[in-house]
Amino acid sequence: MQLEYSDKVKGMRPSIIRELLKQMSDPQLISFAGGNPAADSFPVEAIRRFSAELLEQDPVGALQYSVTEGYGPLREACRSFANRRWPVVKAGDEILITSGSQQIIEFMAKLLCNEGDTAAVEEPAFLGAYNSIRSFGVRLEGVPLQADGPDLEALERVFAAPQKPRFFYCIPNFQNPTGYTTSLAKRRAIYELAVRYGVPVLEDDPYGELRIAGEDLPPIKHFDTEGAVVYAGSFSKILCPGLRLAYCAAQRGLIDKMVVAKQGSDVHTNIWAQRVCHKLLTETDMDAHIRALRALYKEKAEFMMARLDETLGGRASYVRPEGGMFLWLTLPEKVDVPRFVSRCLERRLAIVPGSAFMTDAAPCRSVRLNFSTPTRAQIEEGTAILAGVLAELDG
Ligand SMILES: Cc1ncc(COP(=O)(O)O)c(C=O)c1O
Repeated sequence: MQLEYSDKVKGMRPSIIRELLKQMSDPQLISFAGGNPAADSFPVEAIRRFSAELLEQDPVGALQYSVTEGYGPLREACRSFANRRWPVVKAGDEILITSGSQQIIEFMAKLLCNEGDTAAVEEPAFLGAYNSIRSFGVRLEGVPLQADGPDLEALERVFAAPQKPRFFYCIPNFQNPTGYTTSLAKRRAIYELAVRYGVPVLEDDPYGELRIAGEDLPPIKHFDTEGAVVYAGSFSKILCPGLRLAYCAAQRGLIDKMVVAKQGSDVHTNIWAQRVCHKLLTETDMDAHIRALRALYKEKAEFMMARLDETLGGRASYVRPEGGMFLWLTLPEKVDVPRFVSRCLERRLAIVPGSAFMTDAAPCRSVRLNFSTPTRAQIEEGTAILAGVLAELDG
């Protein structure tokens, strides 16, 4: 049967990254294209032990239907976890446990936008967010991202436009795809503009714990006294993405609406995973685990940067990321980026062209490199391929 799809899904594009990964059955292929956390960082032993304990001591509690808001003790543990450096979740805020932070992005679009509305988004940014927001018939208004955060003049112009955006989506820590970090001054300024123009902020922070250089910075939500910021924290990059666990901290009214949306979506987040996560947060030394993650990623990132510095001979540029999983490599003007990407693929290196992260797939001179997944040997080999292709195309 020929199916007729809704207008809503017509604007959706398949993720180029997932499409690329599908082609990667070749075991020789090196991937700098994914965004997976390092698999050897997963707390497998603790998950195994806590699962066995739970199924032994409270099998029904782990396997029965549960409440939509999330497991109460986990919600409390998330509040303490988020607030351990600065107050982030305020007294008037509530927490909802979600099935990944992707679900928080979806709920924001679903609850705050009507079809034909606009959402402001950092550009470039995470394609999964663009697709999710677009699927509600919402138009994306890109705000150019600079190395220290969004261009504030452009942000103010977008906020002040006759069709005011329903919310602003940003990733202040070690952004996907650029690795850029929004400065403290810009975090305050974004908050002030949000309040002045009445545009709520969705602060997506899956990478914040993965700092490898510089000082930790308070989230935008830390400055929030007006209930203007929705904070999305995720356990995907600090525990493992297969648990599908994230938490949303926001004013009570919005969380109440999200609970209703979640009832119609997946009823509740996997309760077994929530119970295991609660034990991980309260019975293991999470700070020690995060220190180990930071050390692992620092080693990988610094190795990739050292190899790039040595092999590219200054032909391409990048801003040293202070954390996260990505490096944004900008190629010389004369290099055709799609050609560069396909030449790399022919030599068995997968990378993602920057245009994949633009609202309208506009040409972009950068490519995204992932350093969390490849091994040291693959980084060595992959950066040599990059350098070889660059030398060939930059003549
Ligand atoms: C910026 C950003 N937000 C959200 C997500 C989705 O994460 P989760 O696994 O919590 O749904 C990702 C995943 O890569 C991401 O890069």
